[in-house]
Amino acid sequence: MDISGLVGNTPILWVPELWSGGERGFWAKLEGYNPGGIKDRAALHMIAEARRRGTLRPGAPIIESTSGTLGLGLALAGVVHGHPVTLVADPGMEPLMRRLLLAYGARLEIVAEPYPEGGWQAARRARVRDLLTRDPSAYCPDQYANPDNAAAYAPLAAELITQLTHIDVLVCSVGTGGHSAGISRALRTRNPALRLIGVDTIGSTIFGQPARPRLMRGLGSSIHPANVAYDAFSEIHWVAPAEAVWACRRLAAARYATGGWSVGAVAMVASWLARREPSGTRIAAVFPDGPERYFDTVYGDAYCAGHGLLDHKPEPGPDELPHPAAWEVTRWSRCTAVTPPRPAVPACPAGSGPGDDAPGCAGHQGMGPRAPGRWGEAGSGWPRAGEV
Ligand SMILES: Cc1ncc(COP(=O)(O)O)c(C=O)c1O
Repeated sequence: MDISGLVGNTPILWVPELWSGGERGFWAKLEGYNPGGIKDRAALHMIAEARRRGTLRPGAPIIESTSGTLGLGLALAGVVHGHPVTLVADPGMEPLMRRLLLAYGARLEIVAEPYPEGGWQAARRARVRDLLTRDPSAYCPDQYANPDNAAAYAPLAAELITQLTHIDVLVCSVGTGGHSAGISRALRTRNPALRLIGVDTIGSTIFGQPARPRLMRGLGSSIHPANVAYDAFSEIHWVAPAEAVWACRRLAAARYATGGWSVGAVAMVASWLARREPSGTRIAAVFPDGPERYFDTVYGDAYCAGHGLLDHKPEPGPDELPHPAAWEVTRWSRCTAVTPPRPAVPACPAGSGPGDDAPGCAGHQGMGPRAPGRWGEAGSGWPRAGEV
């Protein structure tokens, strides 16, 4: 078996709700048990599909924008399939993650400044586009718009069904939107009434809030990824960093199973649901990674004290927003009206390679030219400078 055989079949763990540790609780799917994290699944699947379609040729370079977890997965895919991997990140990437990625043989490009429109993500994607222009043989998986990202999670859903048989509520963090879209779609073939709860960070634009500098990494975005399945969500929650830190540390002390920002945020929301839902409701929450890469942030007292994140036990419930843009949220908040914050842009059809709505990748490896009126172009209705 090669190393890719270690991806998947991750365990689940019962987590009593975090406030009281009482009878109610939820099931956590521990994706930190993959060699790199949840994105090993997406990386291996996107690369395997690109090779199968011929959009990624043997030995050709892979180039992608990532905050870390997908980078680990792509480094793994590069080792498995024999491709050099270049990852474009920003200065917020943890030093440990940088060293790990380099050790796994990836090349790193760190962008220096965020873009006024689209922030760090837009800056990273512009660098990806630049690198692709310089090497026409290179391939960009484009995790933000590639439907293979979402499709990669069908096996995770199958594992959940084997492990839990029936699931009423699924709680997922949202970054590219890949795992929430893919798992919920597959679970709904068994239970169409499944409710999907999305968890985002304050300062993220995904669900219609204004873009602000964000401490939390993994979940959240400063763009509107095409992979986010807006109509799949029953409700969304925004979580603040101090609340996620509290939840991560509670999880570690109570269950010896914890992770990073997205794990804390998801665990807090799932705990709240466990207290609120009728008894017997089966809640599954996806924990995307483990704690290792966060020792100097979430689990670093100096870092947390410096950012005012220590000892903030969250209020027992969220603020309620009538619609996602009602006001700018600064603490845990919830909204049951989920709408795309801009005109929907379809992901590219399967088999065509990453979408032509992907600014980092347009025009490469079989991708069509950019359609007019996208990504902030005049008259597109997309976010422009000063609007996000
Ligand atoms: C640690 C972590 N949590 C959550 C997410 C969000 O997952 P998705 O991109 O599938 O929405 C990511 C994405 O990179 C991540 O790295």
